[in-house]
Amino acid sequence: MNVLILPGDGIGPEVVAQARRVLDVCSKKFGFEIQFDEALIGGAAIEAHGVALPDATFQSAQAADAVLLGAVGGPQWDDPRATVRPEQALLGIRKGLELFANLRPVKAIPELLDAAPLKQELLRDVDLVVVRELTGGIYFGKPSEQRHGPTGREAVDTMRYTEHEVERLMRCAFELARSRRKKVTSVDKANVLSSSRLWRDIAHEVKAGYPDVVYEDVLVDAMAMHLLRRPRDFDVIATENLFGDILTDEASVLAGSMGMLPSASIGDKRNSLGLTRGLYEPIHGSAPDIAGQDKANPLATILSTAMMLRISLGQIDAADAIETAVSHVMKSGLRTPDIQQPGCKQVGCAQMGQAVADALG
Ligand code: IPM
Ligand code: MG
Repeated sequence: MNVLILPGDGIGPEVVAQARRVLDVCSKKFGFEIQFDEALIGGAAIEAHGVALPDATFQSAQAADAVLLGAVGGPQWDDPRATVRPEQALLGIRKGLELFANLRPVKAIPELLDAAPLKQELLRDVDLVVVRELTGGIYFGKPSEQRHGPTGREAVDTMRYTEHEVERLMRCAFELARSRRKKVTSVDKANVLSSSRLWRDIAHEVKAGYPDVVYEDVLVDAMAMHLLRRPRDFDVIATENLFGDILTDEASVLAGSMGMLPSASIGDKRNSLGLTRGLYEPIHGSAPDIAGQDKANPLATILSTAMMLRISLGQIDAADAIETAVSHVMKSGLRTPDIQQPGCKQVGCAQMGQAVADALG
C-alpha cells in the first residue's frame, strides 16, 4: 500500500511528522508495510512552482491508496486579490479526486470536557459525524466573480446542486448512520434557497430506501443553536458544502479544541486495495502564529491516520489501536498548549507524538 504525504504549510509539516512516526510504529506492530511518497502543496508549492496544486502532486495523489495532508495557507499568501492562493489546492484536489463526502466525527473526550467553554453535562457522550458535501455548492458554482454592474462594483457566487450530487451524499450519510445509531439529520435552508429545496426533495427520496433510519430536516440557523444546546441528540448530520464548513468549526468546540478533530474525504472511487480512496487531514488550519515552535497539537492528524487505516487501508486493528493510544495519553495527563488544563503536564508537538507512539508499542 502506498500513502502520499502532503505536509503543506505552517504547522502542517510538524503534525504530519508525528502522524508518520505513529504510522511507522503501527506498521511494525501490525505487520503491514506502507510505501510513503511526499509532494508539495499550498504555499510551499506556490513558492517552488508558482501554483498551489502542481500537476505532479495531483498525479501522485491519484496514484496513491490514500493521501495524508497537513494544512495549507499563511499570511504571505493571504492577499485576496492574488490569482494564486494556497486554498485553491484544497478545492482542486477534492474536486479532482472526486472526494464528494467529507466525514468530520466529533466525539466528546471525557478528559477534555472541562477544556470546552460549555457545560460539562451537555457534552458528556456527544458522538456525532458531520457528512459535509465537498465538491459542489457555492464553493464551485459558476459564475463566481467580482464585476462592474450598472450601479458600480458587484460580486456573485452561485450555489448550484444537481440531483446526482445530493443523492450520492445522502446515500453516504444513510449508509454511515446504519453502522451507527441510525439517525440522519439533514441540514438545509429550504425556507429561502432553491438549492435547499432540491436538497430536501432528494433527501426524502433517498430516505425512502432506509426505513430503519430515523430522519429529520433541520434549518441551518436552528442547527447552529441545537448543536450547542443539545449536541447529544445528533448522530449523522448531512449538509451542503458551506453549511458544513461553518457547522464543523462550531462543532469542534464540543471536543475541546480544533486540535483534536480528524477528517476523511471520500468518494466512490476505489484504490489498488479495492478499498475507498480518501484524503485525510485535521480540520484545523496551518496556524502560522505557532508554526515551527513545537506547540501544535498533532492529535487531529494522528486521529486522521486512524481513519485512513480504517477506511482506505483496511487496517482496522491498527486504527483501533491508535484511538486507544490517544485516549491512554489523554488519561496520562499530557497536554499540548491548546488543551492545557490545571494539573496536567504541558508537552510540545513532538513529545505528544512520541507519547502516542510509546502507548502503541
Ligand atoms: C476546511 C477549510 C477549507 C474549506 C478552506 C481552507 C478552503 O476551512 O477544510 O474546512 O473552506 O473547506
Ligand atoms: Mg473550514
